[in-house]
Amino acid sequence: MTVHQNYSLKKLNTFGIDAAAKYFAELSSIEQFKELLSDKQYNTAAKLILGGGSNLLFTKNFDGIVLKNSLKGIELIKEDADSYYVKSAAGEVWHEFVMHCIQNNYAGLENLSLIPGCVGASPMQNIGAYGVEIKDSFYELEALNIHDHTIQNFTNSDCKFGYRESVFKRELKNQFIITSVTFKLNKTPNLNTSYGAIEQELEKMGIKELSIQAISKAVCNIRSSKLPNPTEIGNAGSFFKNPEVTKTKFETLKIEFPGIVGYELENGNVKLAAGWLIEQCGWKGKTFGDAGVHKLQALVLVNYANAKGNEIYDLSQKIMDSVKEKYGVELEREVNII
Ligand code: FAD
Ligand code: EPU
Repeated sequence: MTVHQNYSLKKLNTFGIDAAAKYFAELSSIEQFKELLSDKQYNTAAKLILGGGSNLLFTKNFDGIVLKNSLKGIELIKEDADSYYVKSAAGEVWHEFVMHCIQNNYAGLENLSLIPGCVGASPMQNIGAYGVEIKDSFYELEALNIHDHTIQNFTNSDCKFGYRESVFKRELKNQFIITSVTFKLNKTPNLNTSYGAIEQELEKMGIKELSIQAISKAVCNIRSSKLPNPTEIGNAGSFFKNPEVTKTKFETLKIEFPGIVGYELENGNVKLAAGWLIEQCGWKGKTFGDAGVHKLQALVLVNYANAKGNEIYDLSQKIMDSVKEKYGVELEREVNII
């Protein structure tokens, strides 16, 4: 294991921000993590666990040690009448793990195809797309306690999953390194095409018989047509969360803004489409130097070439201020600001 100094992170974050880490190490075993955490030179340093760097915005250099998680391995650990229990090491690439499950007919993750990043980050914000979140098939995870170096297990309820939320973003922030995640996947698929665009895409594809393979392909097609590919344009997916407002607030907004897009939630509140709010404030497709708002998806901020993290951050603040002023709605950043 080599610890590099003053290490460029430009190729390790999908925004393509040119930031550097004071120290950087890539770790491929739990023993290496423990060894590094016990090393006097680094044990008091600030730590950043890095997966695929697809949900981060570096606004400055990182004055500590970046630990790139490269733990590998996928294993079917048990099965019962209805389910397969599949364990993946944290450093596996999420989409490759989903493809492995689909090829083996382990059902449940197909709607989450093509989300960038690593398996270990998936519980951090309970990744979700097209009507499904990982909490729907999450079984348990193992994580290394940064302070006492013990491995702890977390069940679904321990993780306190919510919309783009978990205990690891709140109470236990920066306390654990997730080392593996186990999913409970179905033998008989419970196919979810509730998200309208999936039905339309399946029809376009001429699919006669629904399957997890067909849904995965449809989701990949929709995503590729809507979201910028980070290898071509720097971005971290949705920069903001879709905000939740009360039904009363929604009804009031609807009188003034009849086109407003919202989805009623089980708790009676309404989730607003932040992309719509941002577009209506006039931001869609705008550029400011190399920073900008994507032309097809106003929820995605982009780096066209050499934007600084601060420029993207300042743009996000201006967007938040204008949405607040026009609609009285607070946007919250989804991307982790470093
Ligand atoms: P990183 O960006 O490396 O890290 C994210 C956070 O998790 C950081 O705070 C990091 O310190 C922490 N972390 C990472 N790994 C570990 C670990 N092993 N242990 C402890 N902490 C860890 N997200 C969705 O939910 N739905 C989508 O549909 C979606 N679409 C996207 C589309 C695009 C084009 C892009 C660029 C991003 C999209 N995202 C989406 C966001 C992103 O892909 C997810 O949040 C993903 O899970 C991040 O994984 P990562 O490995 O890149 O995490
Ligand atoms: N819309 C606009 N203008 C825009 C963008 C969106 O008006 O520029 C409106 C449209 O009415 C559209 C609605 O917003 O119908 C919803 O848009 P879309 O289906 O593209 O979804 P989203 O709300 O923008 C969310 C997630 C994505 C996830 C997709 C699919 C959040 C913050 N984002 O995006 O997740 O892939 O749904 O389920 O919840 C991510 O978290 O990084 C991410 C990409």
